Amino acid sequence: MFKLASTLTLVLAATAATAASKGKWFDSVGIIMSENEDFWLTTQQAPYQALVAQGLLTTNYFGLSHVSEQNYAAIITGVLDPNIYRGDASTPANLNITYPTILEQLKAKGLTYKQYTESYPGGCYQADMYPDNPSGALYYKRHSPFNMISSLRGTPECLTAIGTYDDFANDVANGTLPNYFWIIPNDLHNTHTADTTPNPFADANPWTATEGPKWLAAAQKANALFINTWDESRCDNTAKYPCGTHLDQQIATVLWGPMVQKNATDNKYWNHFSIARTIEENWGLTPLGAGDKNATAFDFLLPNPSTNSPSGGSGSTSPRNGGSASASSSASLSKASMGLNFLGALGLMAGILVVL
Ligand SMILES: *[C@@H]1O[C@H](CO)[C@@H](O)[C@H](O)[C@H]1NC(C)=O
Ligand SMILES: *[C@@H]1O[C@H](CO)[C@@H](O)[C@H](O)[C@H]1NC(C)=O
Ligand SMILES: *[C@@H]1O[C@H](CO)[C@@H](O)[C@H](O)[C@H]1NC(C)=O
Ligand SMILES: *[C@@H]1O[C@H](CO)[C@@H](O)[C@H](O)[C@H]1NC(C)=O
Repeated sequence: MFKLASTLTLVLAATAATAASKGKWFDSVGIIMSENEDFWLTTQQAPYQALVAQGLLTTNYFGLSHVSEQNYAAIITGVLDPNIYRGDASTPANLNITYPTILEQLKAKGLTYKQYTESYPGGCYQADMYPDNPSGALYYKRHSPFNMISSLRGTPECLTAIGTYDDFANDVANGTLPNYFWIIPNDLHNTHTADTTPNPFADANPWTATEGPKWLAAAQKANALFINTWDESRCDNTAKYPCGTHLDQQIATVLWGPMVQKNATDNKYWNHFSIARTIEENWGLTPLGAGDKNATAFDFLLPNPSTNSPSGGSGSTSPRNGGSASASSSASLSKASMGLNFLGALGLMAGILVVL
């Protein structure tokens, strides 16, 4: 009987986890973070245009800081903190996020997360770069948000939560893409190399051309929203990087997945806090800091396609998941599917009883 009871508990737990991952718009979200490039130049690149053709381009989206790491940290904490800084001759390094992050909120809801980090050696690597040599480094801690989180550092969990980019293909193939993930391209593929090459997209374009179709397919398979954005613009109105006729901090951000219109644009104002707020509203998470509290969620996403709800997927978050103000119209459908899951669990129990 004990065995039976614990089996039932496991089955019910699995059922609950499935219900929890069904968000208002998506079941999974991935942020692909590139580096230091302007809207006008990014949108001229053919591999990028191929993504835009399958998704939505925001034409009025802005970075928050001209210090890379502050943009990454803002998306996971809702806080724009000038003290998050790689350090220089007069300032001690502080790549150490000590605020609450969205990871704790996700975990509390039974949602999963992971960072896919290109050119990362694994093993909770601590140093600021890898290889640990400024002339050959491809991975940088300051571009690797999970590695900056104090509560994750040095824990057993960071061995699995911070993976390599190879893990991404494995997880897609195995159907184990987490609910929340980041893809961190290396410093050749994230357009950061512009300082040393004449064409900032020389390394990134072939990589995006190869990986882009995989990202598009993964979004369909996992009912995932993918967001490719840049941390900040290259131009910053300094003598070295004048903005000219372009806007300081305007960056290209493209989104795709089954909940996104194809070949579309949106011209409302958005920034990195909009990403945080959208993810929070998707699963009924509480906003964390001044930035995401003040932001609004992307209003162009379509209802979650995986709920099969004719009146909209906003009720897909079950009541236990917090739900949202507009959840009433399809709440009954959501309950119906939970009922089916419960019947499935009963059926499994009956099967176990027969075996016993
Ligand atoms: C990060 O901050 C925490 C809390 O203040 C501190 O205990 C820890 O030593 C810091 N870690 C690093 C690497 O600075
Ligand atoms: C599935 O995941 C396992 C690890 O759990 C891994 O060894 C295997 O390569 C993955 N399969 C595919 C097709 O990637
Ligand atoms: C995308 O939209 C533009 C107009 O905004 C149109 O000219 C173009 O043909 C569309 N492309 C596809 C592939 O639908
Ligand atoms: C709140 O967001 C708006 C943009 O939507 C911005 O103009 C304003 O400065 C923000 N306020 C705070 C306190 O962050």
